Amino acid sequence: MTEHILIERPEAYPGVQVILFNRPEKKNAFTRDMYARMTNALHMANGDERIRVTAFLGTEGCFSAGNDVADFLAVAMGGNMGTEVLDFLAALLHSEKPLVSGVDGLAVGIGTTLNLHCDLTLATPRSLFKTPFVDLGLVPEAGSSLIVPNVAGHQRAFALLAAGEGFSAEEAHAAGLIWKIVPEAEIEAATLATAGKLATKPPEALKITRALLRGDKTALSRRIHEEARHFGERLRSAEARAAFEAFMRR
Ligand code: COA
Repeated sequence: MTEHILIERPEAYPGVQVILFNRPEKKNAFTRDMYARMTNALHMANGDERIRVTAFLGTEGCFSAGNDVADFLAVAMGGNMGTEVLDFLAALLHSEKPLVSGVDGLAVGIGTTLNLHCDLTLATPRSLFKTPFVDLGLVPEAGSSLIVPNVAGHQRAFALLAAGEGFSAEEAHAAGLIWKIVPEAEIEAATLATAGKLATKPPEALKITRALLRGDKTALSRRIHEEARHFGERLRSAEARAAFEAFMRR
């Protein structure tokens, strides 16, 4: 069976752990199993001093199409939601090591919001950040309803998270949501080089600096849970179910 999440430690970049999304046939949509593997990798990094930085990468032209809609539909039909998504969000929030991401192409739903928990995000010009939560009868997740207004202001947050407008790499950059834009051919190398450079820095000083910049996590943690409560209820709503069924029928 193909592993949909690959965990690598490239020799050329000591101290870097890479979480690679590897489900291109489904646009790297995340299943519960994929979340669990990513959570495990983030926990591993916290407990292993040889890992100093974790980097997220997708496949060519696609970072991630977000949560697997079939999994959403299963919950809408009365199935169990599991704890995998919330566990992953907690692992992002409590990661003790810097997180870097390299986005090329589609970044939908959590494919966009996971970058909000990264310290440096690189993206290619053809990248598209989009969170169609409301169109799916859902609400924002991953603390995005708190982070995006703080970073980008209400109007851009509303455009992204409520109106479901796609943001180009340039727009995401202008909004302060990503660090920089690099050419398509360079995204992987540039992301790994960025992570590799961070991994050479004095880890304790970097850890303290990162914690100072991130500040108190209490409000963000609370917001993630508040969003999750609404999200769980919305998943079981008639409007969400209709949206998932429409997607699955296409
Ligand atoms: N969950 C499950 N399957 C998904 C998926 C998702 N989030 N996104 C894409 N796929 C699947 C498609 O069903 C299709 O599968 P198939 O070949 O077996 O039919 C395959 O991936 C390719 O996707 P396709 O829609 O043909 O590619 P596209 O380039 O035309 O469109 C997207 C790409 C991402 C715009 C479109 O697939 C989409 O809107 N996906 C849903 C995104 C979403 O709503 N995510 C949840 C956010 S909260």
